[in-house]
Amino acid sequence: MKLILAKIKVLSPSIRHFTLAPVSGTLPVAGAGAHVVLEIAGPGRVWKNAYSIISAPGAATYEIVVRRVEMSRGGSAWLHDHAQIGKVIEVQPPQNLFTPPRTARKHLLLSAGIGITPFLSYLHVPGLNYEWHHCGKAEDAAAFKALLPDAAHVTLHTGRNALNLAALLAAQKLDTHLSLCGPEAFMDFALATAEHAGWPAQKIHKESFGGATGGEPFTVHLRRSGHTINVGADQSLLDALEAAGLAPPCLCRGGACGECKLPVLAGVPAHHDHYLSATERAANDAIMICVSRAQTQELVLDF
Ligand code: FES
Repeated sequence: MKLILAKIKVLSPSIRHFTLAPVSGTLPVAGAGAHVVLEIAGPGRVWKNAYSIISAPGAATYEIVVRRVEMSRGGSAWLHDHAQIGKVIEVQPPQNLFTPPRTARKHLLLSAGIGITPFLSYLHVPGLNYEWHHCGKAEDAAAFKALLPDAAHVTLHTGRNALNLAALLAAQKLDTHLSLCGPEAFMDFALATAEHAGWPAQKIHKESFGGATGGEPFTVHLRRSGHTINVGADQSLLDALEAAGLAPPCLCRGGACGECKLPVLAGVPAHHDHYLSATERAANDAIMICVSRAQTQELVLDF
């Protein structure tokens, strides 16, 4: 669908708040936890980036918050440097992989950095029983506070070391579910702490966006289609396959949903997702192509 950039608000040098309105008609309703994928046309390629919708379900517009990521896949840089009010952008219909779990009596929300955004939409859920801790850089605090409604109760920590996560987890009752969103290092830390504390996987929910940060170039051979594709230093494996005209499965584009998992037939992946278990990672026979790359110069995938 085509949406028009209706408003741009600068929250900090690296964080902007965008409002997207329909060119005509009304928008599909996006519930708490939903995201949209923006398709941003750059020179010779299209960037597809997922962003949480922070506006209320049923609102006339979608609001998103975008951090400008250095060494990023490019979409955030375009939104910060070139996007102007009135620009029409292709946007995929909203998906929701991170709805607040219904069986939770209490929601323990843990976010870091731009991972604050999906939980902003949780604040629209009437009567949600939550405890929210956010870890971020001191220079981002004012920007994030500007996004929080007065009624929100969030404990802000300057970096994850300021949060005693083990103690926080130990203080929860059995009917609490843990929901996580943040950068790769934060997710690894939070997941390891929760697993060490004995939290069952079905009570841990996670979302992650923008995890593909580039790296060494490599080559991928697709056994079934016969394609050989070079993955550049500044693109993800998923981006490279899409640029070659293929349509591999994907939803979150952030290494959390599991949709883009492909079997590895040869080569060694460099795992950056939060979907595969430690055992699955060690087997090196599957890869989440939206965020993971290669330790070897070549990978052979069953696709
Ligand atoms: S698209 Fe969700 S894990 Fe890759």
